[in-house]
Amino acid sequence: MITHRICKEFSEEPLIGAFYGTEPSLIVQDPEIVKIITTKDFYYFNSREVADYTEKEIITQNLFFTYGDKWRVLRQNLTPLFTSAKMRNMFYLIDKCTHAFGMMLDEENAISPIMDVHSLMARYTMDCIGSCAFGVETNTMKKYDTPNPYRIMGDKIFETSSARGFKIYARAMWPAVFYLLGFQLFPDEIISFFKKLLIGVFESRQYKPSSRNDFVDLVLNLKQNEFVTGDSITNLKTEEGKKVNLEVNDDLLISQCVMFFGAGYETSATTLSFTLYELAKNQEAQLKAIAEVDEYLHRHGGKIEYDCVNELPYVEACTHEALRLYPVLSTITRELVEDYTLPTGLRLDKGLRVHIPVYSLHHNPEHFPNPEKFLPERFLANEREKIKPFTYIPFGVGQRICIGMRFAKMQMLAGLVALFRNYRVETASDTPDEIKFDPTGLVTQPRTKVNLKFVRRHDIEKQKRV
Ligand code: HEM
Repeated sequence: MITHRICKEFSEEPLIGAFYGTEPSLIVQDPEIVKIITTKDFYYFNSREVADYTEKEIITQNLFFTYGDKWRVLRQNLTPLFTSAKMRNMFYLIDKCTHAFGMMLDEENAISPIMDVHSLMARYTMDCIGSCAFGVETNTMKKYDTPNPYRIMGDKIFETSSARGFKIYARAMWPAVFYLLGFQLFPDEIISFFKKLLIGVFESRQYKPSSRNDFVDLVLNLKQNEFVTGDSITNLKTEEGKKVNLEVNDDLLISQCVMFFGAGYETSATTLSFTLYELAKNQEAQLKAIAEVDEYLHRHGGKIEYDCVNELPYVEACTHEALRLYPVLSTITRELVEDYTLPTGLRLDKGLRVHIPVYSLHHNPEHFPNPEKFLPERFLANEREKIKPFTYIPFGVGQRICIGMRFAKMQMLAGLVALFRNYRVETASDTPDEIKFDPTGLVTQPRTKVNLKFVRRHDIEKQKRV
């Protein structure tokens, strides 16, 4: 939010020099320069902030935090997990989760129609990533007397507290001191939990890749070799075609595992919650979304199929508009790996941190008129074409764009169909009029719980719609 305030104050400036704590940073407001940094001259900006310290913790060795050759080899080896064919093949697992989701909604609704929307959505998305990536039943949607271990781990990864807030900012500003003093961003229990989880799954598959071709299979394949190979990052500059090897060890694999679990559920749960929050406040938009879902289900004999990702333009537009208003990462960071001069002539020194102010770009009235208003129509066919490139970037952009975007879209749209099949949402008496963000989280999160009222739709209402 501080970045947003700075951007508003210097709204005419394409580039703003600022201090992030004691460290200089460059805030890039000009979409043309965002393009140069994330795509054209990506080589120079292939790193994220404080990337030199990623080896200090097991979890930060994952694809999201790392850079250079290691990032490129990992990215090349993990990308095949997210092709459309892979998504289509695993859709039967998502479908199963949507059934469990429907049942959970009924059970919880019978107790009270007013529910914490994020917690509900996280239980669904956790189950999706658990079964699709790890082939395990997380049981997050079942009623339990004892706390669910996956939910506990989720809470540990995405904890919001002043202690966590302090760690996030201290690590980002003074990483050397942070690690010298023995701090860690993530607690060790997360590592032991995922180590145990992976070993359990490996054993159940007798250490041989199965026909599921899921994340665990990929890990098993990688485990069979000491190294994985890929292209060196320097090829982007020299076009030499140099190959590099990356050592495969348990730490590397576990860190990717935590990343898939964490990124797989929380980002989508947050986006689903914000989508429903806005639809509860905008009943007209919700009616349109529900009408589209009813028609979809009518066309498909009541079944949710993979094609839902292409056949629900309005519902999808609602998720896009929620991502515009509440991007999961409000700022995307990059770090300069070599001295570099921008086409404007501005010389930048190696190590400079670059902040791409996603939230500000999305809320800039020049790019999105009436920016605080929830208007899904902005993302429908003709209107969408009018959006200026590099001003709407909720999944990032360029070579480091979110690897899980297809998965996210699939689980979000399937989840919304499953929900609107039987329910609609309304604001409850304590639903906030506007969202205040928690500054201590890793990703965009509301400061307080957001309760919504889940109202069961009647069969007559559904029949009338198709
Ligand atoms: C609504 C859902 C999601 C949103 C809004 C989102 C957003 C983002 C953003 C903004 C980035 C940074 C991109 C950049 O630096 O240019 C990112 C990276 C990443 N995301 Fe997502 N994400 C979502 C879902 C997922 C899912 C479901 C997965 C995995 C199953 C995932 C895995 C990752 C990974 C591994 C990266 C790092 C990519 C890299 O640095 O090469 N994300 N995501």
